[in-house]
Amino acid sequence: MRLRNVPRSCLLVCALPLVGQPTAPPIATLAVEIARPGAALAPHMWGVFFEDINFAADGGLWAELVKNRSFEFPQRLQGWFEIRPEQARGTVTVRSDRPAVAKNPHYVRIQAPAEGFGIGNEGFRGMGVTQGVGLSFSTRIRGTAALRVTLRGDQNRVLAEGRLGSSGSTWRTVACAFTPNATDAQARLELTLEGPGQIDLDAISLMPTDTFKGHGFRKDLAQALADLKPGFLRFPGGCVVEGYDLSNRYAWKETVGPRDERRPNPSRWLDALASEGRFTPDYQQSNQLGFFEFFQLCEDLGADPLPVLGVGLACQFQSNEACAMEDLQPYIQEALDLIDFATGPADRGWGKVRAEMGHPAPFRMPYLAVGNEQWGPEYIERFPRFATAIRAKAPGIQVIGSSGPWSGGKDFDTLWTAMRQEKADLVDEHYYAPPSWFLANAQRYDRYPRTGPQVFAGEYAAHPERPAPGQPRPNHWEAALAEAAFMTGLERNGDIVRLASYAPLLGHADAWQWSPNLIWFDSLRVARTPSYWVQQLFATNAGTRVLPATLSLQPGPNATASLYASATLDEATREVVLKVVNAGVRPATVALPGMTGPASLLRLSGEAAATNPLGEAAKISPVSESLTLSGSHTFPARSLSILRMPLGRSQP
Ligand code: AHR
Repeated sequence: MRLRNVPRSCLLVCALPLVGQPTAPPIATLAVEIARPGAALAPHMWGVFFEDINFAADGGLWAELVKNRSFEFPQRLQGWFEIRPEQARGTVTVRSDRPAVAKNPHYVRIQAPAEGFGIGNEGFRGMGVTQGVGLSFSTRIRGTAALRVTLRGDQNRVLAEGRLGSSGSTWRTVACAFTPNATDAQARLELTLEGPGQIDLDAISLMPTDTFKGHGFRKDLAQALADLKPGFLRFPGGCVVEGYDLSNRYAWKETVGPRDERRPNPSRWLDALASEGRFTPDYQQSNQLGFFEFFQLCEDLGADPLPVLGVGLACQFQSNEACAMEDLQPYIQEALDLIDFATGPADRGWGKVRAEMGHPAPFRMPYLAVGNEQWGPEYIERFPRFATAIRAKAPGIQVIGSSGPWSGGKDFDTLWTAMRQEKADLVDEHYYAPPSWFLANAQRYDRYPRTGPQVFAGEYAAHPERPAPGQPRPNHWEAALAEAAFMTGLERNGDIVRLASYAPLLGHADAWQWSPNLIWFDSLRVARTPSYWVQQLFATNAGTRVLPATLSLQPGPNATASLYASATLDEATREVVLKVVNAGVRPATVALPGMTGPASLLRLSGEAAATNPLGEAAKISPVSESLTLSGSHTFPARSLSILRMPLGRSQP
């Protein structure tokens, strides 16, 4: 809680020195009413928002290393190059006659009069392979020649090799496993003929054999998500749900069923930063990571699924294409069918599709978001049609409505009024703003009405200035600390703020469109940003009930101190959990009346400009210590501190 304008009614002042630290006079008091626990926090309040942006899916969380594996990109050979050793002659053509997969008909034909000719794949900005970590290669193949499969690295070094015999005149699926003999961040895959002849290839795949829980997710990235202990996973994105226009909106049915039959879709983000020299024409969603995999990931992470579906409105910042109201029913049906897909019986309809994909038991699906960042009368007239149909089919599902892309203003207010009227269960709010906004708005929800729809802070991040066009906005500590200050306000108002997720989640360092992001990665490395650690500490120290807490400044020259706090009770461990942000540049001693005895402390602190770049030692990461409190604590400059104190035996 920011210090100014705080009611002093429940203030207890009892400033005692911290054992082992020089006594500094308290500049503020944080009074926590331990005996008066308030609302229960949503047990899954802190979640993550997986958005297919910045190569987050293909080339990111989905562990496939081959780009354009089915030759269905609009530029059919994008990602592929010809391998033509000296004197080797041959042709590479893309065809669609007698295809292996009718829904994805294109394949490649390689013809050569001698061995050595073929094609290679560059991966997603290079294939990251690790010495000793097994890879599994597979392809559909037809033809007379045998195929040599080579993984090549720096200076043309052969990292692994395999051979697959010829298959004759019908398509077969063949596979081989191999293990790289060295680590390489920029490896490439080569497929060459072993002798003269012709082969057709399609649905080519190279995946690590060891993926997160065996479900195809890149292990280090999925582990970074797992370590956040996310309560929910919002997916598959924001604007990709809407599409640039309706033709490339996210259609979930195209993303389930046999993987080779899923049709790729141009990403709405591929030219998002073209004007700044960052153009990613190879950003095509392969849909190999589709809705089944998202639900599976939720299960693997222990997170509640929170799917977002389109409402027949393409991105309102882009084409603004809207389907006619009389054409809305298919979109509503998609929502109803999704309920069947996730939760319906395994022996029929969409539930059967799920079962055939290997999950006969229903998935959890407590939420369904109707639209992403929609606004205007065109959304307001659509929302009730969806909400009514969803409620009639599955009354237990909480329906989430949009408040648009802005954190306030006329459209925002109009949407909130409409969502109240339509009795949305939650309203999704988004705010991307400078760090100062997050500090200034840490009390935003203290003033919100306590009745009506609850709040889903679905996308937020503090945005520092972009240093130059085409350069990412930094993920520095100043931004993360401002988010932490704001999050104390979310937690303090946990009776109405039920869900919250930073955005976006993932960014490929060589293929991003949006910044900042919670986690940066490249083909082999992962960087957990300062904002990541803020999210992680809040999620893993949430507590179960809000405790009334009042933070008050001592009158005097320090009355401008930048302090924010929240308090919760953890009923499982019987601890009081205090979160205090000192966003100021000086240490701040705060009286903590009644807080005496042993405690544990988790802390993040550092220079305002500190970042955790890929491949470098993290400058911002949590430190922990045990201490004994004596009724006050000194919070370092620019710090987030989480104090956990056991309740006394006599306390409730
Ligand atoms: O997270 C980046 C984008 O921000 C999302 O796609 C959209 O919902 C918002 O505008």
